[in-house]
Amino acid sequence: MAYAAFRSIGAYVPSSILTNEDLSKMVDTSDEWITKRTGIKERHIAAKDEFTSDMGAKAAQIAIERSGIDKTQIDMLVCATISPDYFCMPSTATIIATKLGLKNITAFDISAACTGFVYVLSIAKAFIESGMKKNILIIGAEKLSAITDYTDRGTCILFGDGAGAAVISATNNKDEAIIDIHTGADGEYADLLMTPNGGSGSAHDSLTQEASSCFMQMKGNETFKVAVKTLTKDVIDILEHNNIQSSQIKHFVPHQANLRIIKAVGDALKLQDEQVVLTVEKYGNTSGASIPMAINDIYEKGELKAGELMLLDAFGGGLTWGSALVPFSPLKK
Ligand code: UT7
Repeated sequence: MAYAAFRSIGAYVPSSILTNEDLSKMVDTSDEWITKRTGIKERHIAAKDEFTSDMGAKAAQIAIERSGIDKTQIDMLVCATISPDYFCMPSTATIIATKLGLKNITAFDISAACTGFVYVLSIAKAFIESGMKKNILIIGAEKLSAITDYTDRGTCILFGDGAGAAVISATNNKDEAIIDIHTGADGEYADLLMTPNGGSGSAHDSLTQEASSCFMQMKGNETFKVAVKTLTKDVIDILEHNNIQSSQIKHFVPHQANLRIIKAVGDALKLQDEQVVLTVEKYGNTSGASIPMAINDIYEKGELKAGELMLLDAFGGGLTWGSALVPFSPLKK
């Protein structure tokens, strides 16, 4: 049986920075409030003519180069995004494939909001273990600034843009394999976090609707409470199921939504500060891109070594959630 190995990571962060100070000139908020309630200091914003696919392609290019796998060997590309270049089609994945010069490969997007990267990881694992594919490029890419209402202080302080990508490959070596992935969803909570208009649910109205009606809306405080409960249960379950102690986790890489949520989950697992990967301060919440951007951060600091075990944990609109136990298994050691 083939196993799925997490071979490489890459990320792209747009250059323009939106600080808390900048936001305090746009809506009734302050650096003090945002820092205390979220841990966010700044977020990066893509240029007007820079699309989700541009950021995804740049992150993917780096991941391919670091993987040691020739790009002609890549046979599938899956992109997690809630801010695709185009609303229905073509998928952002097909555009990224073309930008990378990848021909005749399977390419599609998935929509699982902030859990998107864990979902695409589970898809890659399943395709590889079934023997259908051998080298899969997975991407989380978001231009959330395009669907953010910059008059709503409850959401605009949270979100940023960016992309992360990884190459997942078949291996016969079980020590290199992704250990386990859990994913779940509950549409009962759909209204906590959504873009309510613009889809087939409001097809006839949408012709007369303003673009602003497609912006994200969130019941922040309710989402916060469900997030802490769900994320904590999720990581405890996956550790117990695999008989792994939290002390064996080298890098806990949570979705970067809010420092207080991350701390609550870290405390429940009795994690030490050095186990917890934090990028929320500088990138804000980049939805499906947040986990691969955070993994890339520790990789580029030289803190992610071959064989080290990562625990990924995500939660987002849908609602969706997911966790994964992933050893870093580069070909180039
Ligand atoms: O990524 C997917 C999942 N997303 C999340 O997990 C996000 C979860 N939610 C959160 O991170 C937090 O709920 C927020 C950061 C969005 C809000 O923090 P909170 O501590 O839950 O605040 P709150 O919504 O309960 O609001 C408390 C007060 C309210 O004022 P009153 O009613 O007490 O007078 C708000 O109107 O803070 C006010 N407020 C603000 N004040 C200054 C809300 N947003 C702001 C703001 N600046 N930006």
